[in-house]
Amino acid sequence: MTVHKTSTAFFISMAMLACFGVSAAGAASNMTRPWLNPKLSPDQRATLALKAMTQDEKFQLISIQFGDTENGHTMSPGALGSAGYGPAIQRLGLPAIQESDAGLGVAKPLKLGATALPSGLATAASFDPALAYAGGAMIGGEAHRRGFNVMLAGGVDLVRDPRNGRNFEYAGEDPLLAGLIVGNAIAGIQSQHLVSTIKHFALNSLETARTTLSADIAPAAARESDLLAFEIAIDTGHPGAVMCSYNRLNSVYTCENDWLLNTVLKHDWHYPGFVMSDWGAVHSAAKSALAGLDQESAGETFDKEVYFDQPLRAAVAAGQVPQARIDDMVRRILRSLFADGVIDHPAQQAPIDFAADRKVAQRAEEAGAVLLRNKDALLPLSAAQSVAVIGGHADKGVLTGGGSSAVQSPEGNAVPGLPPAAWPGPRIYQPSAPLAAIMQRAHGKVSYADGKDVAAAARLAAHSTVAVVFVEQWAAESFDLPHMTLPDDQDALVAAVARANPHTIVVLENNGPVAMPWLDQVGAVLEAWYPGAAGGEAIARLLYGEADPAGRLPVSWPRNEAQLPRPQIPGAGLASIGLPPQGQPAEHVDYNIEGADVGYRWYQRKGIEPLFPFGYGLGYTHFAYSNFKPSLDHGRVVATFTVTNRGPRKGIDVPQLYATLPGSGSGSVRRLAGWCRVSLKPGQSAHLEVVADPRLLTNFDDAHQRWLRPAGSYLLQLGHSATAFQGQGAVTLAQAEWPSDAPPVGASQPCLASRD
Ligand code: BGC
Repeated sequence: MTVHKTSTAFFISMAMLACFGVSAAGAASNMTRPWLNPKLSPDQRATLALKAMTQDEKFQLISIQFGDTENGHTMSPGALGSAGYGPAIQRLGLPAIQESDAGLGVAKPLKLGATALPSGLATAASFDPALAYAGGAMIGGEAHRRGFNVMLAGGVDLVRDPRNGRNFEYAGEDPLLAGLIVGNAIAGIQSQHLVSTIKHFALNSLETARTTLSADIAPAAARESDLLAFEIAIDTGHPGAVMCSYNRLNSVYTCENDWLLNTVLKHDWHYPGFVMSDWGAVHSAAKSALAGLDQESAGETFDKEVYFDQPLRAAVAAGQVPQARIDDMVRRILRSLFADGVIDHPAQQAPIDFAADRKVAQRAEEAGAVLLRNKDALLPLSAAQSVAVIGGHADKGVLTGGGSSAVQSPEGNAVPGLPPAAWPGPRIYQPSAPLAAIMQRAHGKVSYADGKDVAAAARLAAHSTVAVVFVEQWAAESFDLPHMTLPDDQDALVAAVARANPHTIVVLENNGPVAMPWLDQVGAVLEAWYPGAAGGEAIARLLYGEADPAGRLPVSWPRNEAQLPRPQIPGAGLASIGLPPQGQPAEHVDYNIEGADVGYRWYQRKGIEPLFPFGYGLGYTHFAYSNFKPSLDHGRVVATFTVTNRGPRKGIDVPQLYATLPGSGSGSVRRLAGWCRVSLKPGQSAHLEVVADPRLLTNFDDAHQRWLRPAGSYLLQLGHSATAFQGQGAVTLAQAEWPSDAPPVGASQPCLASRD
């Protein structure tokens, strides 16, 4: 045994040496390179490695090259053809840095392909942190087996507008939900020995004119909303890097924003990792360095110059930037590389089990699709029915959002050649055809019409028991949708099909909330988001009741643009897909209109009823709540209650706990403070306990720069959504400065379940 163990260890260490490209003699032992000793802490290792570095090596680490060939860039020989590359520092045993987009899978090299998760919004809609972790571990595992050690994932900007082109990369409008989901996704990625980023820090909530737009918001409101989502996700997932965004925040670029990077992130949150820039988001050397930026990304390709080379060296020489700041940048980068296992578990090419990974994507879609309407229990379908499948390229596959995060299947793009021909294209479809998956289940006749000929589609629907219409809305990084209307006259298609057959089911493949003028005419609507690698199978399983729809909306669904804080986005659109921008983009966007009251809080504050509220979603059974009782337990606000499955089928429910703080102003509208996700058989009950997250029971007191829990009565409500309650009560709390009497963050379990 001993002999065997020794030889295995020897083999592994030889493999590591080979991977680093260093000679056996040079790597004689950790004595000469003590930072390679995994028994030391990441901080100790970073400090030791830093001490051994030359100034050139330090500067090498603080700027990363573009790792691809686009934009006229000549790819370095060692790069893998993706977002970022930094050569190995062989003398020190530091591997090359290989950076890959993004949060929904390994985006590049496009042709090699990878497994696509469904939209971030689908994962958020599952309200299931464990599922988010599993998705992260899956994509992180694929990235590592492609040779990447940094994943540019963790999109957590709050959805402030359904038209933002990147909503599909994010996790919704609520800071607690988004923070826990994205934090867990990051933890999953990093479990595979990669650094994950969290991005785009911060308030990058629109794409229109994103490199100049200033997001204007009062600091306290920012801390209670978007920054809280980042804070919770960082506490949960400990990402090795934070990516500062393109936009300005209160007129100052985020990558040179001293308040955002130094004060909030590094001082107040004690963040130990490094800040990397977005691609083309750096505008200065000394100012950025002093504000807290630690690494410039692809400056030679996307910035005016590589600020973190000659200009920063000159600033150090001139005494404008202390050498200690350069050392701090390097120490932070090294610390994350050590902490996340990048050095000890080098990424290298290895086979990928795509079939297993596809199942992970399928489970995410099944858990995150949201059943919005199901009149007269039209769904689930029965095998005996004949089905007209219409539109949405359902004969070929399912849609994917565009831009740097877009993932193509190893089997290729199921519908190549659709516009736009250039960035932010290509428009990619996953080869998982809903039509084939429906055919596998239906014993009755299944026919298909592509929907271009509306009359033909309606005729097909009229001759079938049910019609399933797939509608699509492509969105992508770099532009916003100018309105909520489905493109290409798809509303007319749905209306015509519904007129021909009232048993019409609409499946949405979209970026997020769209206008549905035909809603009352159709029988059922399933929000499938961008459904990911196995979307076709997942949708069919949901339609036929093999999987229970259990997603809940992570975003409010407005009736129309007039209900939004800002009815227009000046300059939104993309001419190459037939949505020409109207008007000039603005220089500022005023988020003080809603402030911290994003999404459902805005609707409550304004007394507006959206079409569907946050947290809403149907299933094939229904649940009742009883015995709701809030109480105080060692400083924790705890709610206990019973959930009973009152319907005929097994199903999953997500009871949600909302808290309304005493007083007026921010906090006078309810906030999601916790939830459970529970699967119950017909007639079965579960006795549940939810702990209100203490971070949601405080307000930020700007005058004294502290979090304060106000004294008074806290209303607690148990919701099927943010507007439908079954059970409420109150607890009285004394004023407390965070965190004087609250349990430490992370100590509280969101939900403890027990079943009858
Ligand atoms: C995006 C980032 C992405 C980076 C690298 C930028 O355009 O905003 O999210 O990680 O490109 O591809």
